[in-house]
Amino acid sequence: MLQHFDPNKDYGTPASLSEKQVTLEIDGVEISVPEGTSVMRAAALADINIPKLCATDNLEAFGSCRLCAVQIEGRRGTPASCTTPAEQGMKVSTQNEKLAKLRRNIMELYISDHPLDCLTCPTNGDCELQDMAGAVGLREVRYGFDGANHLDAPKDTSNPYFTFDASKCIVCSRCVRACEEVQGTFALTIDGRGFDSKVAAGQNESFLDSECVSCGACVQACPTATLSENSLIQMGQPEHSISTTCAYCGVGCSFKAEMKGDQLVRMVPDKAGDANHGHSCVKGRFAFGYATHKDRIRTPMIRDAIDQPWKEVSWEEAIGFAANRLKSIQYEYGRESIGGITSSRCTNEETYLVQKLIRAAFGNNNTDTCARVCHSPTGYGLKQTLGESAGTQTFDSVMKSDCVLVIGANPTDAHPVFGSLMRRRLRQGASLIVADPREIDILKTPHLGDSVHLPLRPGTNVALINALAHVVITEGLEDTDFIAKRCEPEAYAKWRAFIAESRNAPEAVEDVTGVPAESVRQAARTFANAPNASIYYGLGVTEHSQGSTMVMGIANLALATGNIGREGVGVNPLRGQNNVQGSCDMGSFPHELPGYQHVADPMVRSRFEKVWGVTLDDEPGLRIPNMFDAAIAGHFRGLYVQGEDIAQSDPNTQHVEAALRALDCLIVQDIFLNETAKFAHVLLPGSTFLEKNGTFTNAERRINRVRKVMPPLSGKEDWEVTVDLANALGYPMNYSHPSEIMDEIALLTPTFTGVNYEKLDKHGSLQWPCNNEFPIGSPIMHVESFPTLEGKGHFAVTEFVPTSERASRRFPLLLTTGRILSQYNVGAQTRRTENQVWHHEDKLEIHPHDAEERGINEGDWLGISSRAGQTVLRAHISKRMQPGVVYTTFHHPGSGANVITTDNSDWATNCPEYKVTAVQVEKVSQPSEWQKDFAANHQRQQKLLSEAGASSGE
Ligand code: SF4
Ligand code: SF4
Ligand code: SF4
Ligand code: FES
Repeated sequence: MLQHFDPNKDYGTPASLSEKQVTLEIDGVEISVPEGTSVMRAAALADINIPKLCATDNLEAFGSCRLCAVQIEGRRGTPASCTTPAEQGMKVSTQNEKLAKLRRNIMELYISDHPLDCLTCPTNGDCELQDMAGAVGLREVRYGFDGANHLDAPKDTSNPYFTFDASKCIVCSRCVRACEEVQGTFALTIDGRGFDSKVAAGQNESFLDSECVSCGACVQACPTATLSENSLIQMGQPEHSISTTCAYCGVGCSFKAEMKGDQLVRMVPDKAGDANHGHSCVKGRFAFGYATHKDRIRTPMIRDAIDQPWKEVSWEEAIGFAANRLKSIQYEYGRESIGGITSSRCTNEETYLVQKLIRAAFGNNNTDTCARVCHSPTGYGLKQTLGESAGTQTFDSVMKSDCVLVIGANPTDAHPVFGSLMRRRLRQGASLIVADPREIDILKTPHLGDSVHLPLRPGTNVALINALAHVVITEGLEDTDFIAKRCEPEAYAKWRAFIAESRNAPEAVEDVTGVPAESVRQAARTFANAPNASIYYGLGVTEHSQGSTMVMGIANLALATGNIGREGVGVNPLRGQNNVQGSCDMGSFPHELPGYQHVADPMVRSRFEKVWGVTLDDEPGLRIPNMFDAAIAGHFRGLYVQGEDIAQSDPNTQHVEAALRALDCLIVQDIFLNETAKFAHVLLPGSTFLEKNGTFTNAERRINRVRKVMPPLSGKEDWEVTVDLANALGYPMNYSHPSEIMDEIALLTPTFTGVNYEKLDKHGSLQWPCNNEFPIGSPIMHVESFPTLEGKGHFAVTEFVPTSERASRRFPLLLTTGRILSQYNVGAQTRRTENQVWHHEDKLEIHPHDAEERGINEGDWLGISSRAGQTVLRAHISKRMQPGVVYTTFHHPGSGANVITTDNSDWATNCPEYKVTAVQVEKVSQPSEWQKDFAANHQRQQKLLSEAGASSGE
């Protein structure tokens, strides 16, 4: 029988990956399925739906409810179809009087202990228990409802997003299994036995106090109303749904926005989503309340000077005001005196338009993006070595990996849905190597197999990656075939000679990295000997003075061990924001047009010039830090910032603020009045991902559709605002829908020529390159060759150069930063949701030894000072840190993490060195007084130093 697969249907049990087929007969229908497929799934594939309660196809079969009983010719009894594998020649009956009676009896027992409040139940109409009662033809409950029951079981309402109503629980254990198998948290158990068995979070804690990370997998799995979203309870069943993409992190999860009119009832992870396969995290699943928060800006505002109050005006007036100011600045100070910053939060189409506005309407290349401060070294480093600025794999590829090396990334907090997938693979036995100053949560994965933690000192990544490669080369663990066939021989010979030098040996760098040489040797051997080894890295790699060098070092290690070009291997940057990949792809950097095509290339420019109808500047423009310097110097005077809070997210806040204050025209387009807006002259209301059409590109190069589910609060989608501004500046832009912008992108970008909305709608998503060669995209890159001149991988020599930011007597500790699961970046969105219950302030994590030396106790206020500034945070004493290293998150503006970070940056890309700041920490009793005193002392000291002709600092 021909099978039609519907990704939204529940087939009861997971698919079998076996290549061997078996043929069986179910209710007289012949069907062939992979060996290992359950009878239930085989039947569902033949459109025969066997009643079920405890089974669902993203969880292993459990066989507890018995509702799915079938009869099999030649076998005794009525086996459960969910736990019985299909076999060659099997003949199965799913419907007969005996089975019907059995199923009715089972349902009768369930219903006799279930509240009969269907009409007022939040899941009425969308409840599997209700459906199954109907499916088995239950008409009466002979046992009555007066026996022992659980109808008085208490509700747990501790979680801000969902309620656990134990009176409705049928103890099917789907929630427990979802938490284990899908999420990998193991927060739930079934306590007790028989009639007394019940679902429990942790050691009989509330959901909020337990290990639960609020991912929603249990809510999704629950076939009854026991676990239900609070928004559903309050608003009732949705009327329609629209598929879209999460706007938080670079995993790019697909969701169905379930709506009542234009009100969002809930976000349900989409089973058909290629990046998330129906899973979610607390942010995408629940933290969407910011979209309608009262703080949203709905009306454009202008003011002449930043010390004046804002004046609400019409769109026309605001756009006219902005355009006039920009024009008069250029008239007075020249074409190069203005620029813009694109956003990794906005869609590809919006980002493309902003850089087009700058290059075509401003007439210069002064465009940059917030990716400058996160993954610009990825762009540079991967381009130099592998020939393309992108990760090489799909997320699913990790399921074929035998060894996973995680460097400077914290997947369970920052990329949670991918973190869960990685955990699943680790539970299956893949080895784990983590290179991170902190003991991150992935190291605490339940049922983890082999693992090694390399707790390196911040700033020593390159020394460590060189040491790993040194072991590979000197112990003969390299993949000589791969190197001979796929890599440039001269570059390899040069690199090999360099890396084999004894100064790169683990023993030689042990004092620098702080990692025992034997651990490095063990890790290198595990990585190189694994049939498939993969590398995942994050901002702990890029945000360093040697960020680009480290990215190249990572690529070198993957090339040397032949771990490129197939499933289970690869180099995978975990992108922070939802569209970091896209904003880089779309030509946001000053030196590259869309598709990483250099502005200096006349052939490239001429193609763009023909379509855009202008002459383009052939010189790269200013990067963000150069814009700031030029603003302070007085020759850069106008800036358009779409969707980025540079005053909060860029390093050395004092310097950034001075630059912004110096501008004559700062145009901020955002959804909230952010820190940057304090220095703005024009405020243009932004639209959230729920209010617009477009696409995001996730960390796997996957282009996903973003669909408008409600009208923009301000009346305009972000791309429409850029179009208006271009037109007001005299450069005509004319699009009626973002699909037309994508058509233009495809026309001009070789890696996107096959991308269009029709194809995206048909396939769900496409991974670039998507063109004539790869018409439905490229899940794995570099399979046959590299997009370099000769098609070969390039080894780059990666000399370790220590950062100038070192611990000293004055600043003896090294501060590094990171994220937490419940908050997102500078917190503009998540702080305006219930996620605040998990993390309402940033704290400084400090090792007990360093705390004791300073007389610091848990919760004490700490004054933290660096060469750049000072701030105050509460202490959290934690052994996750090594002595000498302190750590904080940066989700709350008040914590001022970036006030203390210096303006050191990556040598190649200027990406700030956020991950290493030498600091001193002291206990303070009066935080605000301490800050005032510190500032006064600091000023005094600077004055004395400058009078003495000495350089500032230590
Ligand atoms: S919300 Fe997620 S983490 Fe929490 S109990 Fe449910 S499945 Fe487990
Ligand atoms: S809470 Fe829902 S999923 Fe969990 S055991 Fe009860 S009915 Fe099943
Ligand atoms: S993992 Fe990332 S993309 Fe997925 S739901 Fe969470 S925040 Fe959104
Ligand atoms: S669905 Fe098979 S035993 Fe419950």
